[in-house]
Amino acid sequence: MELTLHDLNTSIVGRRIVHYRTLPSSMDAARKLASDGAPEGTVVLCDEQTEGRGRQGRKWFASPSSSILMSVVFRPTTRQLPQLNMLGSLSIVNTIEKVSGMRSSIKWPNDVLISGRKVAGILMESVLQGQALQAAILGVGLNISLDVSSYPEISSIATSLAAEAGRRFERSDVLRTLLQEMDALYLAIKRGEEVYSLWLRHVETVGQIVRITSGRSEEEGLAESVNPDGSLVLRRADGSRVTIATGE
Ligand code: BTN
Repeated sequence: MELTLHDLNTSIVGRRIVHYRTLPSSMDAARKLASDGAPEGTVVLCDEQTEGRGRQGRKWFASPSSSILMSVVFRPTTRQLPQLNMLGSLSIVNTIEKVSGMRSSIKWPNDVLISGRKVAGILMESVLQGQALQAAILGVGLNISLDVSSYPEISSIATSLAAEAGRRFERSDVLRTLLQEMDALYLAIKRGEEVYSLWLRHVETVGQIVRITSGRSEEEGLAESVNPDGSLVLRRADGSRVTIATGE
């Protein structure tokens, strides 16, 4: 069903919003629309997913209507891809601040935390035609009223906006702000401005001693910095440095 959010006033993100009650995953529905030529900024939104997925092959948990579950179709250049990833978490940090006044932080590579617990995750997938980038699908899962205690897998590490703020939120209000934040940041990227330094201000990982799992390898050390391409620079105990593209 096509959805209209009143007072949205964005120029790209959300110019078309397709809403479903249940989907296997909004990622696949958005991918299909992107391949069929959907305009940039098309949003696929659903109340429930039966096969919601997270990064690194994990599941994404959300009871019906408890969360923002959406995937947005972008048509960036390959060079803009890292910035688009940053746009995902930065737009959530900005949204949380606007709707609740709460501060949140970004755990590298792209988790949004409130008081050390994960409130939102970002999943970016590319749609390729041969070697060419046809679209990038930015998936967002943002826990609004999710009762994390019903999910043993995440109960000790996750939270929701309502739990942290101690009050209810209208999903449509949070969604409107989120789409507006994404739109503003995407327009900035298209103008050639970089969102990297804005994003970096919220990345709590820098300066911490961390253990990063990436595929089968594990590295431990001081997170020294994050490069503009999103990769993490780690200084090991022996003083050597390693750059990690992505991980946990
Ligand atoms: C992560 O932190 O691991 C990323 C989570 C991304 C979850 C969202 S929910 C909407 C979209 N559809 C999915 O199947 N996954 C993303």
